[in-house]
Amino acid sequence: MIKIPLNKNTIGTAEKRALNKVFDSGYMTMGKVTKKFEAAFSKHLGVKHAIYVNSGSSANLLAFSAIQDNDKFRKFKSRNDFLKPNDEIIVPAVTWSTSIWPISQTGAKSVFVDSEPDTLQMNVNSIKKAISKKTKAICMVHVLGNGGYIEEVRDICDKKKIWLIEDTCESLGVKKKNKYLGTFGDIGTYSFYFSHHITTVEGGMIVTNNDYLANKIYSLRSHGWTRDMFNAKEYEKQFPEIDPRFLFVNVGYNLRSTDMNASIGLVQLKKLEKFNNKRHEIGKTWNKAFSHLKKNELIQPMEITKGTKASWFGFPVICKTRKMRDDLREHLEKNGIETRPIICGNMTKQPGIKNIKYRISGNLSGADIIMDRGIFWGSSPDMTKSEINYVIRIIKKFFNE
Ligand SMILES: Cc1ncc(COP(=O)(O)O)c(C=O)c1O
Repeated sequence: MIKIPLNKNTIGTAEKRALNKVFDSGYMTMGKVTKKFEAAFSKHLGVKHAIYVNSGSSANLLAFSAIQDNDKFRKFKSRNDFLKPNDEIIVPAVTWSTSIWPISQTGAKSVFVDSEPDTLQMNVNSIKKAISKKTKAICMVHVLGNGGYIEEVRDICDKKKIWLIEDTCESLGVKKKNKYLGTFGDIGTYSFYFSHHITTVEGGMIVTNNDYLANKIYSLRSHGWTRDMFNAKEYEKQFPEIDPRFLFVNVGYNLRSTDMNASIGLVQLKKLEKFNNKRHEIGKTWNKAFSHLKKNELIQPMEITKGTKASWFGFPVICKTRKMRDDLREHLEKNGIETRPIICGNMTKQPGIKNIKYRISGNLSGADIIMDRGIFWGSSPDMTKSEINYVIRIIKKFFNE
């Protein structure tokens, strides 16, 4: 039986060679290779700063921590208010858990708004209705390689003077009107986990054009010290009695990755465009093959938002009924095609939500549909033509064709 995993291993001999070189050098922790990866990433995306960390979840934790009002040394005059306990951040109901948990770690409240069953993205009108005096940020999560309504959300944030964080962990390389997702916001985050658009095995990146936020993130990434900050000298002058190599100015973490992981990322980044074009083509092929099922309202593949060149993270569909989704899942798995729910479904239905501060704005009926009737399978860039056709055959067989 053919096996269609969620993602295939795309790490090849060039990555292994690069990794061995770092290993043989004897310098394996974060250093020159990480800097090189960060520079290549920021150049690729056309953004000023890129900061490499050990996961997308860590990137999100740093993003929300960076806009927290917890820096006594801040000189940067911001248009936006920094985040205080019980302030609010608007998030989509359909999202990943670690887009939400780090919000609670800052003491802020997550405000959930509905997601659209056809596009799987956050609904703009729901965002507008959710805004209160306490809203300090919107976290836009780009679900499964689709573009969403980023320009509209950027406008809202500009008008309301609130932060825009883009969780782009599922959409690296996706462009909206020729601009990369993750670069519209004040901060964008990415994941390089094994099944994502490129991989460093584990890993993540944060991007920003804001010097203050970048410096703070450099510090928060490594223990709260100044060593990696490009304005470290400012602190060193203020505290000449402290060894500048061990000068701590923020409540930081250790969320660094290593030069070994970065060396894999440098090679993978060169392949990103090729990978994403292939994912795009796979999406187009399956959309065409299943157009009659869509017309008959049996399955609805994710609709790509206007102006987006999607890079399908996987191929999500909404089935006509929950029973059909459950049966389809069984049929696909039985035939070797690995499946997933549409990420966490309606996040407010996950038991862990009881542990955080949150409120729901409006109703989450779209998110419920996505949770109850949604499913996706992989669209790995290494899929062969016969594997792509195998998926078509198995889906058609389910519908007795
Ligand atoms: C939207 C989203 N945000 C954050 C993450 C976390 O990334 P990581 O697994 O690298 O921690 C993921 C992981 O899949 C994700 O899908």
